[in-house]
Amino acid sequence: MDLTKLLEKAVSAPSGDNCQPWKFHVTDDQLRLFNLPERDTSVYNHGQKASYTAHGALLENLSIAAAQEGLSASISLFPDNGNPDHVATVRFAPGNPSDQPYYPFLERRTTNRRRFRKVPLQPHHERSLLDAGNDRALGRVSLHSSFPEPSSAHAAIVAAMALNDRTVFENPRLHAFLFEHLRWSKKEAEETRDGMDIATLELAPMDRLAFRILRRWNAVKIMNRFGLSRMIGLKARQQALSASAVGLIAIPGRRPEHYVNGGRLLQRLWLEATRQGMSFHLMGGAAMLLQMANAGECDRLTSEQSGRLLAADQRVRKECGIAETEALLATFRVGYSPPPSARSLRRPPWVEPSR
Ligand SMILES: Cc1cc2nc3c(=O)[nH]c(=O)nc-3n(C[C@H](O)[C@H](O)[C@H](O)COP(=O)(O)O)c2cc1C
Repeated sequence: MDLTKLLEKAVSAPSGDNCQPWKFHVTDDQLRLFNLPERDTSVYNHGQKASYTAHGALLENLSIAAAQEGLSASISLFPDNGNPDHVATVRFAPGNPSDQPYYPFLERRTTNRRRFRKVPLQPHHERSLLDAGNDRALGRVSLHSSFPEPSSAHAAIVAAMALNDRTVFENPRLHAFLFEHLRWSKKEAEETRDGMDIATLELAPMDRLAFRILRRWNAVKIMNRFGLSRMIGLKARQQALSASAVGLIAIPGRRPEHYVNGGRLLQRLWLEATRQGMSFHLMGGAAMLLQMANAGECDRLTSEQSGRLLAADQRVRKECGIAETEALLATFRVGYSPPPSARSLRRPPWVEPSR
């Protein structure tokens, strides 16, 4: 087994702001996956849920890559009751190599933040996305077309996406975290191999210049008096409306393993979109903030911000038929566009020998 190759495929998974909150311990017959809470200290990552989602995507990649190599991967989640950072232990058993339909797309999957073309989702694409997301044990996917007329569920999701971007520019912690993770040049992105290359944000030239000023919270605070954060919300709304469809993933509960399983489902959906040549943009921050408001976990937001988020959560839940027992894992947009201008890089997998 070529473990390095396997792990390189695994860590091509998405993570919040490309924090890559993982490391591996390897023994002869098993691999242990650990979360690194210090890598993602974002407000979004309440209870490590964003990171657990990313770990789910990583485990999905790992099992696809292992099956391609003729190995079956048996995954136990949170095997060490006393340690919530020990996300999984994976044991490999020999099997028959078989071509995995998603294998060629593991490293091609990427976030695309461009405006998409305003065209309807092709019916066979819609079907293939819903099929890929059809695993009730992990969660459920709902898709809402922007054509011919957006539904009230579509409008509720788009409003939540706009509110997320607005809140980032109204909350100093959310703002600081975003700007700490921006890489301002290709050189800086290559040196750190984490965070987000500014080119991946697909900003118009003027907006890119403005972003240099907007990294200073004091400047943002002043400009908010003149409507900056609302304008940013409107831009997110336009970005969301440019997609053929928006959607969400709801998971059957709020425990860490629900988030890991939901992350696996998210990754399947994203890989299917990639396989079909579609563009995909996880606007997951919106789902994370709404879910935090729903669970009363807004300790790092103002009461005004959490009130708005709670209202947005109730609207999404009502319009999209989300039960109170379910948690919101992800919101996304999907459609057609040229490929992104740049891709986020990865650090090599951090592997520690057995202990
Ligand atoms: C839980 C989670 C939430 C995310 N939320 C957002 C988001 O709100 N907006 C966004 O543009 N990207 C979001 N992303 C995408 C990451 O920024 C992206 O995966 C990362 O930068 C790596 O880039 P890649 O997906 O192109 O490999 C999220 C990813 C994860 C795993």
